[in-house]
Amino acid sequence: MCHDTTGTYKKFPTSCGNPPYTEKKFGKKIFPPVNLKKVARNVGLSSRATCGACHFKGGGGDGVKHGDLDSSLVNPDRSLDVHMDAKGLNFTCTRCHTENGHQIEGRYYSTPATVTHSSAMPADSPSRIACESCHSGHPHKGKKNSTLLNNHIAKIACETCHVPLLARKKPTLVWWDWSTAGKFKEGHKYIVKKDALGKVSYHTKKGNLGWAKNIQPEYAWFNGVITHVLATDKIDDGKPVRLTILHGNKNDPQSKITPFKMMRGKQVYDPVNKTLVVPKLFGPKGSGAYWKDFDWQKSVAAGQQAVHRKFSGKVGFIKTEYLRPVAHMISPAKDAVSCESCHSRNGRLKKLTGFYMPGRDFSKRLDRIGWLSCLSLLVLVGLHGALRIISSKGRHKS
Ligand code: HEC
Ligand code: HEC
Ligand code: HEC
Ligand code: HEC
Ligand code: HEC
Repeated sequence: MCHDTTGTYKKFPTSCGNPPYTEKKFGKKIFPPVNLKKVARNVGLSSRATCGACHFKGGGGDGVKHGDLDSSLVNPDRSLDVHMDAKGLNFTCTRCHTENGHQIEGRYYSTPATVTHSSAMPADSPSRIACESCHSGHPHKGKKNSTLLNNHIAKIACETCHVPLLARKKPTLVWWDWSTAGKFKEGHKYIVKKDALGKVSYHTKKGNLGWAKNIQPEYAWFNGVITHVLATDKIDDGKPVRLTILHGNKNDPQSKITPFKMMRGKQVYDPVNKTLVVPKLFGPKGSGAYWKDFDWQKSVAAGQQAVHRKFSGKVGFIKTEYLRPVAHMISPAKDAVSCESCHSRNGRLKKLTGFYMPGRDFSKRLDRIGWLSCLSLLVLVGLHGALRIISSKGRHKS
């Protein structure tokens, strides 16, 4: 998958990761057998297209999972991504994502990288990368705001300012309501509806889907560690369940204000045991597979049994939220988030409270100092004017 340069090595959807070795059909689509000799003779370096074959389509389709990784990055221009710009720096994924013994190392599943990681030079054999690896911790130089911007870095992640909007070329999925799935047209035919962006907004198998373009990220204090609500954890079903638990807070020196893509949804759960559940979606008719039988009770019973977990026999639907960190679609410096976009009352960071930001928050004492200086300025201006009138009168006379 990573090293094929012919584009013919394709996995068959239901072959556990194997490509088709004889011609096979999936729905209406025909999968020709892969010519392994040809593929083997044409192995080469990985590319944005080979890594993207999986990562652009995470979650079941182009742009579904991430707001900053979709097929528009196969051939992006500079305004979409300064690094991967096909006519410019033309970075491949592995220019940044170094590996260790063929393991591409990320950070969210293990430990934070930013603090310990210092350089991306090959000699350092680093396992993870951060913006600072190449740009240093003082990337702004020689301009009037440079020192001020560098001072922001202690508290604000680079991506917060350098990814002004997500999904700038292709829409990303932001809402998935499974509870409305299972409606049919006459003759037991699937209902498929599309929205103004041309994306599927309702499908009998999936329920309602919401897509968006050019969305502002959500912001949170984050130290690089994410843990998840597990299928065995008890959940509080009185409110939406946040599936990703972000670690860090405003008082933690390792934490920075970081951008995220918010994914919201409504999914099936067990209201008696109060756990999330594993539904069985795919399989033959009569096996409990939702996409054939369209019965959530049977689907969850089959799924929970397959993973050896309890199921009360009752299903409900619960609202869930999932936050995905953002690190791609870095805009050119001139398109960085503007000062006012944060430093204003209704700015991007309005939900993050408990710390002082000039221009956004009021402090009684600071306000008083402000008004006092305005007053004294007025007095001074008045005095000055009066003096000038007096002195000019004097001059005219002479
Ligand atoms: C300019 C450097 C750069 C390039 C180029 C780049 N990435 Fe990343 N990527 C990052 C950084 C920084 C992170 C944040 C994770 C970290 O700190 O380890 C990240 C995170 C990720 C993640 C984890 C995201 C998550 O939500 O868990 C994936 C997957 C990923 N990149 C895939 C790719 C793919 C695929 C490509 C090529 C199309 C690519 N990256 C190109 C810098 C880059
Ligand atoms: C066959 C599909 C596939 C291909 C091709 C693929 N990946 Fe992945 N990648 C995955 C999956 C699945 C995971 C999640 C693994 C896990 O659960 O830890 C992953 C994880 C990652 C992560 C770690 C995310 C994190 O935060 O820990 C990065 C970074 C990444 N891949 C980059 C790449 C790069 C760069 C390439 C191309 C050289 C690539 N991937 C090719 C499927 C793929
Ligand atoms: C592998 C090295 C590498 C990594 C990692 C990297 N960059 Fe870059 N970046 C470069 C190079 C090289 C340039 C082009 C030269 C320059 O402008 O400094 C560049 C250019 C830029 C620019 C464009 C400046 C302009 O003139 O418009 C921005 C903004 C930027 N990077 C931000 C980031 C951010 C944010 C990250 C982390 C997500 C990051 N970079 C990660 C190497 C890197
Ligand atoms: C508070 C917002 C903010 C943060 C945080 C921030 N930047 Fe910038 N950055 C800017 C702005 C605004 C510019 C454009 C400056 C100008 O042209 O006057 C810029 C310019 C740049 C440039 C172009 C070179 C230059 O001196 O203008 C690079 C490269 C860059 N940033 C990388 C980074 C990296 C890497 C980080 C994190 C270590 C980062 N930035 C954090 C706002 C920010
Ligand atoms: C992404 C949001 C964001 C952007 C963009 C941003 N700031 Fe800030 N700024 C902050 C936050 C948050 C703080 C408070 C940080 C802290 O508590 O240390 C801050 C602090 C400050 C401070 C007080 C601390 C200091 O360093 O003196 C000044 C002044 C300031 N910003 C000016 C600016 C200017 C000028 C720009 C544009 C060039 C800008 N900021 C862009 C979020 C932002």
